[in-house]
Amino acid sequence: MNALEIRNKFIEFFNERNHRVISGASLIPENDPSVLFTTAGMHPLVPYLLGEPHPLGKRLVDYQKCLRTDDIDEVGDDTHVTFFEMLGNWSLGDYFKEEAIRMSYDFLVNCLKLDPERLSVSVFSGDQDAARDVEAAEVWRSLGVKEENIYYYGKKHNWWGPAGVTGPCGPDTEIFYDTLKPRCSKGCGPSCDCGKYWEIWNNVFMEYYKDSEGNFTPLKQKNVDTGLGLERVTALMEHKDNIYETKLFSEVMEEIKLLSNKKDEVSFRIIADHIRAACFIITDGVLPGNMDQSYILRRLIRRAVRYMRKLEINPDNICRLATVVINSLRHMYGELEKNEENIINILQEEKDKFMTTLEKGEARLYKILEGLKKENINILNAKTVFNLYDTYGFPPEITGELAKENGVEIDLQGFKELFKNHQELSRQGAAEKFKGGLADDTSETIALHTATHLLHRALQLVLGEHAKQKGSNITKERLRFDFTHGQKLTSQELKTVEDIVNNAIKRSMSITCEEIPYEKAKESGAEGLFANKYGEVVKVYTIGDFSKEICGGPHVENTSELGYFKIVKEESVASGVRRIKAVLLRDRD
Ligand code: ALA
Repeated sequence: MNALEIRNKFIEFFNERNHRVISGASLIPENDPSVLFTTAGMHPLVPYLLGEPHPLGKRLVDYQKCLRTDDIDEVGDDTHVTFFEMLGNWSLGDYFKEEAIRMSYDFLVNCLKLDPERLSVSVFSGDQDAARDVEAAEVWRSLGVKEENIYYYGKKHNWWGPAGVTGPCGPDTEIFYDTLKPRCSKGCGPSCDCGKYWEIWNNVFMEYYKDSEGNFTPLKQKNVDTGLGLERVTALMEHKDNIYETKLFSEVMEEIKLLSNKKDEVSFRIIADHIRAACFIITDGVLPGNMDQSYILRRLIRRAVRYMRKLEINPDNICRLATVVINSLRHMYGELEKNEENIINILQEEKDKFMTTLEKGEARLYKILEGLKKENINILNAKTVFNLYDTYGFPPEITGELAKENGVEIDLQGFKELFKNHQELSRQGAAEKFKGGLADDTSETIALHTATHLLHRALQLVLGEHAKQKGSNITKERLRFDFTHGQKLTSQELKTVEDIVNNAIKRSMSITCEEIPYEKAKESGAEGLFANKYGEVVKVYTIGDFSKEICGGPHVENTSELGYFKIVKEESVASGVRRIKAVLLRDRD
């Protein structure tokens, strides 16, 4: 059974069980600032999960294009991708655990004929927010799933949602298929990442609402939200060891292998995945750029190009590979074919831009090497290698090779450490971004953003309420804040402002966010400028008892994450407007 047949069977199966078919939504969520991309089939259904009646009733089914970048580092293993299709069925206050689980089992075992002996399941183990899910476990047992194949896990594994900061969520039961690989040494079970168990389907029992303070309250109705991963099930049905060998990927994988004379399966897969994802994102109307969805698209394209270079494939081939992707998926996604010209043009242009950047990096490196030669230094420090990577997207392997030709070694170990730190920071940044759905994407800028709110409040405390924000600009290195005030600040005033901010940081205050109508936010005393920029419902960020501002975020979770705040400059920018530049240091000195 191929992917299209599985998709059709799924829709037919639930349709026969009184589910109405709804069309999947765009990859770019409409009117939902809390996420950048549609990451699950439930996104467009949030209002109905919260109790709004759906025009088609209480039982729905669909297939939905999804994109997740949070596990981009896993792409290249047997089961992870950025773009995928999720098949889903919903009960909006209709059936609950028992019927949902029975239908999932029926579909997998009786319809797809998967081996029931190879199914394992996990259920929620219970905590202060919700009870242990003995009910779900009992249904699984009654279907013949053996006790040893029922696993109990906590929130980390068996709780799904909300998709953004707030929203519907609940305990879930996940269904895994055993690849029959031997158990790994880490006390292997379905939650293990060794690849023995493939998670194929998630049934979420959405009966809670999580608010911005982290409280869980029961929803008006008990819903079921499920998601079955089409790529993974296709691999099982096509008897493949990994999703990249299925028909969904095999043509582009073969083409990549033909173009390269290297043997690097993981890199082949990364290129295939990223080009495929880029085709879909472009189709849904995004152009490469530096913000939000555009930035993710840019990263995917550039990462594909970097891996192509690594495999000695001429990056010009990116368009050809995209054509293969489009052709191989046209029977399932007609929209790709319709957008073919656009996709190709955009990929070509972005690839060219990136190549220019890389050339600049090369020129910069040669200059650095010349400098080293003059001073008889034969090692290139990690920071420079990292800067070349970070600023020019210049891969360290290439830096290493070019340096070697000039008799210079690079500090690769040091680079790896810097890279690891950076990855950790950008992962946190990306997680924030997905949570908050906003523009910035490094943990440095997020921290400086929170510091800006503290500074704003401190200035009002020291100078008076008239000290209002006129402008703000944040880079990874510093914040810049313009505010209304008539005179130069004295050194004593500056010192007091600094002290107040540092005290606020030390108080380890948590930052919370709520979404409320603009008028209500103003009434509550939240600071808020540029009123006309805001929509009807706004986000209000509160820092302990210290500050409250209307703002798009994102912010750190607790002020203790900020380090030491230091003002580095105070100057005038216009009549009655002062400017402060400040930084966050790890330590006081
Ligand atoms: N929304 C659930 C998931 O994405 C089904 O796993």
